Amino acid sequence: MHKKVEVLPDLAALVQRSLELTLAQMHNAIQARGLCTIALSGGSTPKPLYEAIAAQALPWEKVHVFWGDERYVSPDSPDSNQRMARQAWLDKVEIPAENIHPMPTSAADPADAALQYETHLKEFFQLKSGEFPALDVNLLGMGDDGHTASLFPHTAALQVCDRIVTVGNKDGQPRITFTIPTINQARCTIFLVSGANKQAALAQVFASVADDYTYPARFVQPQGELWWLLDRAAGQGLQLPEE
Ligand code: 6PG
Repeated sequence: MHKKVEVLPDLAALVQRSLELTLAQMHNAIQARGLCTIALSGGSTPKPLYEAIAAQALPWEKVHVFWGDERYVSPDSPDSNQRMARQAWLDKVEIPAENIHPMPTSAADPADAALQYETHLKEFFQLKSGEFPALDVNLLGMGDDGHTASLFPHTAALQVCDRIVTVGNKDGQPRITFTIPTINQARCTIFLVSGANKQAALAQVFASVADDYTYPARFVQPQGELWWLLDRAAGQGLQLPEE
């Protein structure tokens, strides 16, 4: 694992740096394999990054967009991660509809939706049994409780290591989420973390000893590149790991 932590002066600089890294990985993937696969996170931090990506001239027919987690709401709900990404980015570019792979949220049982997405990923990535998909770029955020994707503290999803996708749970609200093994299979993982309210959780996530089930972002130890991009408000006072 190649772990890099960068503290940027402010959110705008954080967005610019994440754009640079994301575009570089997308170009590398397209050059190497003829296409790139990127998984999006939800929340608010990544929205300006999605707006910035929308302004790029990319070979959109070679870009495939997935989600690392989704709230279990309809795609037109204000809480939908898919809706946010479509409004900020995907509706603004000539990306083929079939290149957009949203997490389904219409099944009565969220477990069925998780299985549907897992089956879709197995087909798209042509996975053998027991294999996990290697996304070229996996964008993640971190909540002020140390969660990432929809892997919340002390939830059952943290124990699921034999599935690609599972059901997350936030205060009783179902979510669909990549599992930890899927997250750790990505070629390049980029965390975007902004705001002073993230400081305390970041200190625990970066601590040499802390409880992983209390701070699930600690489980993200990908075999590929790992970038933590923090703004100063989030990164202030952190004992950053040695380079
Ligand atoms: C979601 C996200 C979630 C998010 C964190 C941080 O569905 O909400 O995927 O994991 O990344 O909650 O959110 P902010 O970046 O908005 O603080």
